[in-house]
Amino acid sequence: MKKVIWITGAGSGIGEALAKAYNHEDHTIILSGRNKTQLESVSKNLVNPFILPLDVTKEDQINQAVSLVQSTFGKVDILINNAGVSQRATVSETTNDVGRNLIEVNFFGSVHLTKAVLPMMTNRNKGSIVAMSSAAGKFGFPLRSYYSASKHALHGFYESLSLELKDTQVHVMIVCPGRIKTDISKNALTGSGESHNQMDQGQLLGIPVEKCASKIIQGITKKKAEIYIGGNEILLIYIKRYLPFLFRLIAKRVNPK
Ligand SMILES: NC(=O)c1ccc[n+]([C@@H]2O[C@H](COP(=O)([O-])OP(=O)(O)OC[C@H]3O[C@@H](n4cnc5c(N)ncnc54)[C@H](OP(=O)(O)O)[C@@H]3O)[C@@H](O)[C@H]2O)c1
Repeated sequence: MKKVIWITGAGSGIGEALAKAYNHEDHTIILSGRNKTQLESVSKNLVNPFILPLDVTKEDQINQAVSLVQSTFGKVDILINNAGVSQRATVSETTNDVGRNLIEVNFFGSVHLTKAVLPMMTNRNKGSIVAMSSAAGKFGFPLRSYYSASKHALHGFYESLSLELKDTQVHVMIVCPGRIKTDISKNALTGSGESHNQMDQGQLLGIPVEKCASKIIQGITKKKAEIYIGGNEILLIYIKRYLPFLFRLIAKRVNPK
């Protein structure tokens, strides 16, 4: 059956790769992000795209977008809250405004869109909601204070939501990627809110974005609650959980760039 799949942050990186991977199945793919030109460029390779520019920090835009999707398609089968921005600055360097902005995009952006789409899923007793966290949603990391906090917050919210939906067929999944080779470090914010504009070494060594997209799609199909995707850095999630003292020893030595 044809599905309506809504991806935020679809103009680049993991979102773009997800759109292309789902395209094989001929679904309607709603592409959202702030940069319309990027969304149009991604849409050129898709069979059934629907471009829906959206800044997830603007609640009025979210409400308008959800009304349009409701009147056009009447449903959302899969919502992938992928939009996000990283950080490359210490706590002291990061202004309060930049910190708040990181939380607005990464946490409230995802939460507000989810809440607006949720009735379309609960009414049909069907659907999948994906929250894009990070390995940094499982442990803290230098130069990522607000980013890590925003991703940790997603776990509290989406785990609660998932438990509230336990008697329904609406599925909630949290994704924790490690290092995936995208432009995320270039797009990351410095302490004053400029783009970091550098492809960090760690990012360059990340796994291919197509592999990440394929694992996310597998997780949705299998209705997983939480998945981890990446290379050796994923081990840190388990080390933090079972051997926290060892985690600190290792994390202090890892280059945050
Ligand atoms: N790559 C990794 O190693 C990695 C690791 C862990 C987690 N993640 C998570 O994966 C997600 C995708 O990141 P990526 O690696 O694909 O990086 P990316 O290429 O920088 O993608 C981020 C996307 O988010 C969109 N976005 C940013 N602010 C937005 C806003 N206010 N409203 C709507 N869209 C917004 C951007 O598009 P516009 O600028 O056009 O809005 C962009 O397409 C993020 O949530 C990130 O935290 C990535």
